[in-house]
Amino acid sequence: MTDPDIKKGLAGVVVDTTAISKVNPETNSLLYRGYPVQELAATQSFEAVAYLLWHGELPTPEQLAELERTERAQRGLDPRTVALLETIPVTAHPMDIVRTVVSQLGTFDDTLHRPGGWTDPALDLQRSVTLFAQLPAIVAAVQRRRRGLEPIPPRDDLDYSANFLWMTFGELPSDAAVDVFRISMVLYAEHSFNASTFTARVIASTTSDLYSAVVGAIGALKGPLHGGANEAVMHHFTEIGTADNVGPWLDRAFAEKRKIMGFGHRVYKNGDSRVPTMRAALDVLLDESGRDDLAALVDALEHAFVERKGIYPNLDYPSGPAYHLLGFDTEIFTPLFIAARVTGWTAHVREQAASNALIRPLSAYSGVDERHVGTAARGV
Ligand code: CMC
Repeated sequence: MTDPDIKKGLAGVVVDTTAISKVNPETNSLLYRGYPVQELAATQSFEAVAYLLWHGELPTPEQLAELERTERAQRGLDPRTVALLETIPVTAHPMDIVRTVVSQLGTFDDTLHRPGGWTDPALDLQRSVTLFAQLPAIVAAVQRRRRGLEPIPPRDDLDYSANFLWMTFGELPSDAAVDVFRISMVLYAEHSFNASTFTARVIASTTSDLYSAVVGAIGALKGPLHGGANEAVMHHFTEIGTADNVGPWLDRAFAEKRKIMGFGHRVYKNGDSRVPTMRAALDVLLDESGRDDLAALVDALEHAFVERKGIYPNLDYPSGPAYHLLGFDTEIFTPLFIAARVTGWTAHVREQAASNALIRPLSAYSGVDERHVGTAARGV
């Protein structure tokens, strides 16, 4: 039985207000606290964008310096996290590993035991900065461990983006490549009521704690219909191999009714506002690496898919190959998304808490009509 009022997947349903970001599919625009994301990607550090999402305004030089100081002071891996990582099979998916470690971080936080400590807004802001500072070290350590390598300590003389790449690879790529990484973090930071952010808000709405909300959000992000698409895109490229195989590969994929990852969006129907900026950033890496084969493949799949389906690429389409060219394993792409989106998630947790109503929708029952066990069935 289906009820005509049911909006499967909450499609088109407005469930609350938010002052954090505005997605406008008509104008193909995305604003963080009123600023077009393209302008932020062109001019701001990721630290400044994190500040903007949490506080509603871009930081003054003093405020930015204070955030950078706090972030740099918390960059190092806790020895208990290093010990936990050693207990997790190296074959586990990095999303599962990062989810587990973020859960562990919640157990280190003694302020949770204070009266009202779970949902104290000032403490939640500190926790947001802690997660922001810790995730690069966690993701870098997970990437290195997959290659049989020890974690690399952070460097205080580097900004967030350069330090992230340093901790992962032990060397720095060109300034242009560091900038591509920064741009990807800015573009991934926030996107209104997407599935993982909504998950975080549902958890926050029960007056649970911020770590629990982020752990739940990571679980939602893992799915290929959401953040897992950036990993899945790269698997497509590997499967296809070369640009001249795109046509036959798509024929087979359509015949098997497969979804092609990195295309389509619930909100944008005429193209994802973030794609042109990320595509330009990817082109920098494609030029720098001389990977004309990959450039041809990325173009060929995009053109063929848009021509045949009229569905456009989303942010995961250009970011997947960009992370590949930066040197990350494919399974690390979605954990990079976590490191960026934790800024948006934590801003939303605090916004939810500030004017909370328990999120508890209704369902239309579709099971069997009322019935009774009866004495015989109870074996009495
Ligand atoms: N490949 C093939 N067909 C598609 C695709 C795709 N990527 N996207 C949409 N369609 C078709 C779909 O099969 C359906 O066709 P029909 O009406 O004939 O059954 C129609 O378009 C509508 O699709 P839908 O899945 O009902 O629409 P939705 O609004 O629920 O889907 C989506 C949004 C993102 C789940 C979907 O486009 C999709 O599965 N894309 C691939 C996964 C992906 O790239 N996800 C990342 C999303 S954006 C960034 C992020 O969150 O990470």
